[in-house]
Amino acid sequence: MNHRSLSAKFYIKTMGCQMNDYDSDYLARLLLNNGYSPAGSPEQADLILINTCTVRAKPEQKAYSFLGRMSSLKERNPDLIIGMVGCLAQMKGPELLRRFPVLDIVVGPRELVRFQRVLDKVQGKSRRVVATCLDLRPPNPVSFRGYFSGRVTANLSIMQGCNNFCSYCIVPHVRGREVSRPHREILAEAGSLIREGVREITLLGQNVNSYRWQGDGKTWDFPRLLGELGEMGGLLRLRFTTSHPKDLSEDLIDSFSRIRNLCAHIHLPFQAGSNRILKLMGRGYTREIYLERVQALRKSIPPIAITSDVMVGFPGESERDFELTLDLIRRVGFDSLFSFKYSDRVGTSAEKMGGKVPEPVKASRLKALQDLQKEISIKLNKALVGTLQQVLIEGPSKKGGEITGRTESNKVVNFICDQSMIGQLHKVLIKHASLNSLWGEIAD
Ligand code: 5AD
Ligand code: SF4
Repeated sequence: MNHRSLSAKFYIKTMGCQMNDYDSDYLARLLLNNGYSPAGSPEQADLILINTCTVRAKPEQKAYSFLGRMSSLKERNPDLIIGMVGCLAQMKGPELLRRFPVLDIVVGPRELVRFQRVLDKVQGKSRRVVATCLDLRPPNPVSFRGYFSGRVTANLSIMQGCNNFCSYCIVPHVRGREVSRPHREILAEAGSLIREGVREITLLGQNVNSYRWQGDGKTWDFPRLLGELGEMGGLLRLRFTTSHPKDLSEDLIDSFSRIRNLCAHIHLPFQAGSNRILKLMGRGYTREIYLERVQALRKSIPPIAITSDVMVGFPGESERDFELTLDLIRRVGFDSLFSFKYSDRVGTSAEKMGGKVPEPVKASRLKALQDLQKEISIKLNKALVGTLQQVLIEGPSKKGGEITGRTESNKVVNFICDQSMIGQLHKVLIKHASLNSLWGEIAD
């Protein structure tokens, strides 16, 4: 290990999904173990890592523009090391070093397990390393005592990659095939998070319900893993994301009523409401199956919050197809939705499909969809006014003055309370509601 002088500082810019947040936490602990300390801004750093996303064109542009801004820092400090890691790094590989002379490191998500070696090489002055092998297993987290202290919530990755190959999606190409982590490793990581004071864990995977691990003559599937985590003392809340509707088993639905600390919330991306488009997307379910799964969830856990991802303007999407998407949104009444314009990703099968939808049509469909969802979300939030909600208190709110927490359904609530209550579950009486937050008073 190549320990740095105590003055060396790192800065990590994280884009994309929670999986990237998790990977950045991994890198940060690794760097802390290498003698680096965190820099408050890129200007103060000796090492800058940009953890990138390539799911759509927008995050990709964001990564390039951030890198552009970092270039001027290198002019002033030629010893500055700049690395691009994550999904865009995986997709572009060595091309990035050719295009951007300021870059020293390009490391894909599966290569993070070998990041120490990359760092040693770069620090040893054989600068400029590309590492983009997709066959490696996810790393076991490096520990750094106290890293999570002060945090009430944390992510825990239980699997990497995806085998679904939805026609629009770059993820299987940049994160590789599905591989689950050994259940014992996951339990140990959860245990160490709880010891550091974490009270809510979100299990991460591109498709968590495909989790499967065999060992000691037994097989662990996702509901079984959830059951074991649910038994851990000190863990007040358990969540998971993301689930694929085609793999949402009865057993998983039953887990919500069986496991005491599993939050009544599911993120279940539907992507489109038209069967013709779902088929072109290769999603493996119909709108009828999706609606039936939603009904089964609500029958088993009536207050369950359902959130989702949806796309407009997939190649060939007609006005009628789009109407079916709006219709599905109305029928389900999602608590909230992440909505996107379809974006061509090089190497996916949708990129080669005909019938591309013009940009202005995509934009107007997205607006209509978001307007509809706003109405639904506000209505659902307002219905909570006057109710008591169980809230996990997380810390000071960004705006200051108030404390913030989240309901079991994952809605943000602001209130006034003593700082000593951070990390505890309390009942909050909801007084006001807006599109994105709730306000209330502690009631116990
Ligand atoms: N274009 C637009 N949105 C996409 N998503 C994934 N790939 C694309 C793409 N090519 C969206 C899906 C997915 C979310 C993470 O991003 O809705 O669920
Ligand atoms: Fe973006 Fe997908 Fe990679 Fe997450 S897994 S960072 S959403 S491309």
